[in-house]
Amino acid sequence: MLTDEQRRAWDEHGFLVVEGFYRDDECLGLRDRALELLRDFDPAEHRSVFSTTEQSHAQDDYFLTSGDKVRVFLESGVLGADGQLDRAPELAINKLGHAMHDLDPVFSAFSRKPELAQLATDLGFVEPKLLQSMYIGKPPHVGGEVVWHTDHTFLWTEPQTVVGFWVAIDDATLANGCMWAIPGGHRLPVRSRFRREGDGTATEVFDPEPYDTSGRVPLEAPRGTLIALHGTLPHWSAPNTSETPRHAYTLHVIDGTADYPADNWLQRPTLPLRGFAP
Ligand code: FE2
Repeated sequence: MLTDEQRRAWDEHGFLVVEGFYRDDECLGLRDRALELLRDFDPAEHRSVFSTTEQSHAQDDYFLTSGDKVRVFLESGVLGADGQLDRAPELAINKLGHAMHDLDPVFSAFSRKPELAQLATDLGFVEPKLLQSMYIGKPPHVGGEVVWHTDHTFLWTEPQTVVGFWVAIDDATLANGCMWAIPGGHRLPVRSRFRREGDGTATEVFDPEPYDTSGRVPLEAPRGTLIALHGTLPHWSAPNTSETPRHAYTLHVIDGTADYPADNWLQRPTLPLRGFAP
């Protein structure tokens, strides 16, 4: 499926952008399903704010036990004094996570598109396992920054195998907080590892130096674009200060031939890992 040029780009840059990988109706169908799942959500019962710039969520049991569930994480500043959402749910969510791809038929079909399975094989997967799904809201005005990080930091395997597949459900632009990456940054040593410790989590820092982001590039992406991100590629996205939403879907895949440590934050005690087969 990959052209020689795409393969070279993947090896050289650590990411691959494929426009039109998903059709509009596939993207809009996933958005409709995400909004349906949101309708069942009671913020008073499951209040949790997800923020990559604050660590409070990390201690949160709601987050740590979400690896085999479908849960809703809100942005900061969207709850009124009465504990209820002060705006429509789709304008308030940080994300849904982290097992829609196994628990919901619409998300499963989207995640198991045969072309995506083929792409994973082309990228070198031997036994691809679909580990984590996130439906990301990044709503107008309140959609937060996602700080520079690598996915291997959070979804560690020995050896490193994780690849992130990111799909633009809305057009992602400079204005609404598209992703940015450091081309070739996947060849840098990973600088930290996020893992469980006791009842909470800890970040093990191997190198405290911030990334040199002077060579960063924006990955603007019209709806339906697939961006594959190498697990050790540093990437980042800005807050959404625009009037337009920036919905996106990410699926993280690891190889079943690698070891998955028991102290990774994401554990799925009720749900064995599956591959791309429907
Ligand atoms: Fe990421």
